[in-house]
Amino acid sequence: MRACLWRRCNFRSHKSLRLFSISPASHDRVDVARLLSQQTEADGVDVNGWVRSLRRQKKVAFVAIGDGLTLESVQAVLKPEDAAPKQSHELQVTQVAILGANDAEHNPLQPKYQTPEYLRTIPHLRPRIPANALLLRLRSQVIASLTHFFSQQGFVQTHTPIITSSDCEGAGEVFTVSSNAAKESEQRPKPKDAAQVEHFFRTPKYLTVSAQLHLEALAQAVDKVWTLSPSFRAERSDTPRHLSEFYMLEAELCFTNDLSDVMAVVEKMLVAIASDLLSSHTGAELLKAREASQSEHSDATDSLTATDLKARWTGLASGAWPRITYAHAITLLQTAAADSKATFAFEPSYETGLQAEHERWLAAHVGEEKCPVFVTDYPAVQKPFYMSPSSASESSGVDEQNTAVCFDLLVPELCELAGGSLREHRGDDLRKAMEAKGVEGSGLEWYQDLRKYGSVPHGGFGLGFDRLICYLSGVGNVRDVVAFPRWVGRCEC
Ligand code: 4AD
Ligand code: MG
Repeated sequence: MRACLWRRCNFRSHKSLRLFSISPASHDRVDVARLLSQQTEADGVDVNGWVRSLRRQKKVAFVAIGDGLTLESVQAVLKPEDAAPKQSHELQVTQVAILGANDAEHNPLQPKYQTPEYLRTIPHLRPRIPANALLLRLRSQVIASLTHFFSQQGFVQTHTPIITSSDCEGAGEVFTVSSNAAKESEQRPKPKDAAQVEHFFRTPKYLTVSAQLHLEALAQAVDKVWTLSPSFRAERSDTPRHLSEFYMLEAELCFTNDLSDVMAVVEKMLVAIASDLLSSHTGAELLKAREASQSEHSDATDSLTATDLKARWTGLASGAWPRITYAHAITLLQTAAADSKATFAFEPSYETGLQAEHERWLAAHVGEEKCPVFVTDYPAVQKPFYMSPSSASESSGVDEQNTAVCFDLLVPELCELAGGSLREHRGDDLRKAMEAKGVEGSGLEWYQDLRKYGSVPHGGFGLGFDRLICYLSGVGNVRDVVAFPRWVGRCEC
């Protein structure tokens, strides 16, 4: 198609902050992606979008219109009778009305390279950048894939609470909920009743760190459940992988005492997501955007190429990832260090646990390149109270007695993406584990109740959803894939 005739369009502009309307109205609305894929001329289409750029010549102006549904923009020609069409698709505009204004000169977003650090200071405007709009669409597509996958596998989608009574992970990194009104609010209580409102729910409550415990309660009703919900952690980790507020994808399944069943769900789920991405328009645009950003900013510290990114997706889509025990992982790390095949800041040892550098090495060297690895059976002492000890599992196949039937999924470059386990479903053993970890009596009586009334063997996992979006998009920092990121010291709006 060489040209489209536009009878009406509405534009909002970053540059000149003008919205146009071109009459007559009453035509079919088409998005830019669809328009660009049309092979024939169209008459009287109606497109809404933002002006990405404006190029004025003596008798004609060329306006690039984008609507966020594709990285591409379409060129609109104002005064088409004088214009020689240059693009494969062009909109010939006959009438324009201004719908809004833009202070283009002072707009914090400018049509040039702006650093991620700067863009994090304007999260309310950042999504308008086409590459950031693409991340919003990626997130939405992955949620659609997940919903489809879980529905096909017979999992029930559920909602778990944000306000909770306990610190599920026992790491003491909770935000406490207070009913104190905001400082500026007229509702702000007088000092004398401050103590009263402090505990709105009578005892201290927290923002959830994981939906797991509530999800376990729901699993015991319908067998298989999943949720994608916000989690909050008051941890001070200032890394590209940690946020204070993030989305966790969690699932629980009953009637299993085999960790392989849980790992199989994680694996099949990520295979489905990666396969969907590989065959999608969003996937094609992510590769295109990566190619473009590599050629535009040769100084960029991010060296991941489009080929690398696609290899990540195919590594996920291939499935059948290796599974090694924690003990074996430590041996591999120690051997690599002894043979000078790897240099670590922290010496790998069974007792001290895996550091990010160890996880990175394992993900890069165990199995195929760009392929994740499951590490199983960590020492129980490193894991929370709710995990089954390995001796309770028929399938763990390890000698160490004091390990938990659990796994972490490590992916190349990113490290830990997901973690899961079988859950201690026996009441007495759970009580002992809670005592040993010092969490008994900390508002978890209801959780112990689950073991009294028809408790069956079960397991589940949690996956860092924002980390997954990072991995799939090739964006190096989780702060840049979340629209409104919060981390220690930062909560912009
Ligand atoms: O390993 P975690 O702490 O596991 C749990 O919370 C379990 N209760 C989950 C379950 O079994 N239902 O967290 C799960 C995943 C991690 O593997 C990581 O990917 C992500 O959540 N995660 C974070 N993502 C971003 N920012 C943080 N601060 C994160 N903390 C954990
Ligand atoms: Mg973990």
